[in-house]
Amino acid sequence: MNPTETLTELISVRGVSKSFATEGGEKNVLDDVSFSIREGEIVALLGRSGSGKSTLLRCVAGLIAPSEGEVAYRGKRLNGANPGTALVFQSFALLPWLTVIENVELGLEAKGVKTAERRERALRAIDIIGLDGFESAYPKELSGGMRQRVGFARAIVVEPDVLLMDEPFSALDVLTSENLRSELVRMWADGSMPTRTALIVTHNIEEAIQLADRVLVLDSNPGRIKAELSVPMPKPRDRRSPEFEALVDEVYGILTGQKAEPRRETLAATAGDAAAASGLDVPLPTASTGALGGLVGLLAARGGTEGLAEIADDLRYEIDDLLPVVDAALLLKLARPHGPDLRITEQGRRYAAADPLRAKEQFATLAVEAAPLVRRIVRELRHSDSGAIRADDVLAELKAFYGDDDAEQQLDTAIDWGRYGELFEFDADSDRLLLPTHPDAAAGVPSA
Ligand SMILES: Nc1ncnc2c1ncn2[C@@H]1O[C@H](COP(=O)(O)OP(=O)(O)OP(=O)(O)O)[C@@H](O)[C@H]1O
Ligand SMILES: [Mg+2]
Repeated sequence: MNPTETLTELISVRGVSKSFATEGGEKNVLDDVSFSIREGEIVALLGRSGSGKSTLLRCVAGLIAPSEGEVAYRGKRLNGANPGTALVFQSFALLPWLTVIENVELGLEAKGVKTAERRERALRAIDIIGLDGFESAYPKELSGGMRQRVGFARAIVVEPDVLLMDEPFSALDVLTSENLRSELVRMWADGSMPTRTALIVTHNIEEAIQLADRVLVLDSNPGRIKAELSVPMPKPRDRRSPEFEALVDEVYGILTGQKAEPRRETLAATAGDAAAASGLDVPLPTASTGALGGLVGLLAARGGTEGLAEIADDLRYEIDDLLPVVDAALLLKLARPHGPDLRITEQGRRYAAADPLRAKEQFATLAVEAAPLVRRIVRELRHSDSGAIRADDVLAELKAFYGDDDAEQQLDTAIDWGRYGELFEFDADSDRLLLPTHPDAAAGVPSA
């Protein structure tokens, strides 16, 4: 049905890797990413927060250069900005002192288009994108959705071969984003959109499957293409259809599978390094213990097995919020993957059925067994004479493996887990991690 092989390859990404210099050394964000975008295709790039989606998009736009590999436009290797693309960002930087039409014309001005033609083309773009009547309004007079339309108009007015979009709907409320998304689908379907080829970055699975002909799933740490799926259903697509739901489940499964196992390769790569040996480079899923309890409880209540899409729907969780919780459940072996579903383990059943005190004890045992960062902190505390260590020291070590924000998230999560399991406490005033004041609380825990 889709003879993509015969269509022109507009964008080719070949063996792209990208690393950034950080405090803790080189951070490898993208690793050997290759894909192409052919004329008329809409490709979605899906991945968790921090997986490198925006970085990859910026490489495609030619805003940053890959550390290795290359990006080509119509077979020609980029050297600077990609002449065939225009970008729509999450929230558009509109100039507040310019009207809607003046903001839209900006892109053309940069290309040296003459005034009269500029006006005409801008009016057409405004028409297409549903902004007519707002030409002379200032950005502050517009709602978020309308402002984002100006962003779209500014991108399509230059009639790029490929529209690049970085989470273009994520700053909008649900109804507005739904509205804008379905209009986009309609414009693509009826041919009113001048640009028929697009790469859209999203972390919303349903959005990807609603819009795209092909979905690329990006793994994290470092970002690699983990899977590629084509979406064969005709558009507009019915989200409630079994094919749609099956694809959503499949993608959920792929995204969840990625962190089920600690990354042994990373460990091996830095073997010999003292910090790596103690597992600081095995990330703790950034899930709160409360959410973890909620997830295991929900599984137990549902007879033990449930689809991730249903769980997310039920809890009104976004994928970015749910996946770490699922990861934590997998890490602690409270649940395991069962096809695209999540199934509670025997251990998980016991945890769900236990009274709060027993549940805490069980959690503490599992966390020390399975979560290297938690084990590491407990071990250090037990070996320290004062029964206390500086949180800042732990943070500094974590920064060797993670960016500043991620390192802090790791520590915050470890503290939440430690507190809940009564493994250790944290005193914010003195910035110290301490053994619990009731030493007996952790008595049931195997020595770390
Ligand atoms: N200029 C930079 N210097 C150092 N690190 C960077 C830089 N740009 C991005 N990173 C890091 O690269 C990783 C990937 O970032 P990126 O913004 O591409 O992810 P993303 O998938 O778009 O995430 P999100 O869904 O949150 O937008 C992050 O850990 C980020 O901290
Ligand atoms: Mg991003």
